[in-house]
Amino acid sequence: MPLKNDLILRTISGEKTERTPVWLMRQAGRILPEYRAIRNSLSGFKELVETPELAAEVTIQPVDILGVDAAIIFSDILVIPEAMGLKYEMVEKRGPHFPETIKTSADVKKLQVARAGDVQYTIDAISVTKKALNGRVPIIGFAGAPWTIFAYMIEGGGSKTFSKARRMLYVDPKLSHNLLQMITDSTINYLKGQIAAGANLVQVFDSWAGILSPELYREFSLPYLKQICDAIDEVPKTLFAKDAYFARAWFGKLNCNTVGLDWCMDIEESISLIGTDKALQGNLDPCVLYGSEERIKKETENMLSKFGTTKHIANLGHGVYPDTDPGKVKFFVDCVKNYNH
Ligand code: CP3
Repeated sequence: MPLKNDLILRTISGEKTERTPVWLMRQAGRILPEYRAIRNSLSGFKELVETPELAAEVTIQPVDILGVDAAIIFSDILVIPEAMGLKYEMVEKRGPHFPETIKTSADVKKLQVARAGDVQYTIDAISVTKKALNGRVPIIGFAGAPWTIFAYMIEGGGSKTFSKARRMLYVDPKLSHNLLQMITDSTINYLKGQIAAGANLVQVFDSWAGILSPELYREFSLPYLKQICDAIDEVPKTLFAKDAYFARAWFGKLNCNTVGLDWCMDIEESISLIGTDKALQGNLDPCVLYGSEERIKKETENMLSKFGTTKHIANLGHGVYPDTDPGKVKFFVDCVKNYNH
């Protein structure tokens, strides 16, 4: 089915489009009362993720309510460790928790490389979403980067330092590489499954990129990102690595189409490091959306003018914060749509 709004795809391919496309990381859920209503009628987050019709419904909500130019499938990056054999729980108001973690090579041996069918509920959610959207906007599939997934599997949950995960890289590099390779193979299978079900582009989130030194990043994250980028050639690929200032020039050389920037990354500097071959995505500070409409407009327009008229997908520099007023989010989306370069 042809897409009615393919602004994002045309922007990625370098076309000078009628306006800059816009969507928000973590747009599905969190901020919308319509999401909360569905979420509160269920046993928890996982039931929503694992029920394709409902996951599709909350995926489409921001398209209807906010008017964004893409839908990102409602799921979580932690479905991959679970499909490999490490179950997660989502603890109300606290975040993810793994009752078992990876400590030894015997623990790694118990895991399997996941196939797409091991995350069938998200694959099905994409098919249902595709049908319901009827070509209104592209669907973004996603996965966590191997390093970020590794960090949760070793640590067992969120952490400020992920020191257990970083410790493992020094103490047992062999185990670390084995596990990272299994996560990479699982991620490639999973992304290919999402694409077969209808994802029009995919994004890889390396949310914990910034806690590694450049040397460790080069050894334990970059090679696996490269494998993913090289294995996926069906649709455009976006790489978002939070706080990975040191990696921007390397990303410029990876086989990806778009690089996401966080708000601390200077736009002009990023363009010169990454080069003009790639599209760039981002990078408004999510806290701007707590400001007045006047301030949101000023900051958004400043960002748009710095990125220029081509190869830019407007977004925040990280996920929208849960207590953001949806009206302000819509205002931001409209500022992008109304801006004349
Ligand atoms: O972008 C979207 O709107 C699609 C859905 C999506 C979710 N998680 C749903 C979710 C996406 C793309 C993610 C990615 C994700 N999950 C990342 C990478 C992006 C990032 O923020 O850096 C990470 C690190 C996770 C792991 C995770 N999931 C954490 C740390 C938490 C708890 C804190 C939080 O973000 O709320 C989650 C839970 C989660 N994932 C929620 C949602 C809507 C909130 C759970 C709820 O509704 O109760």
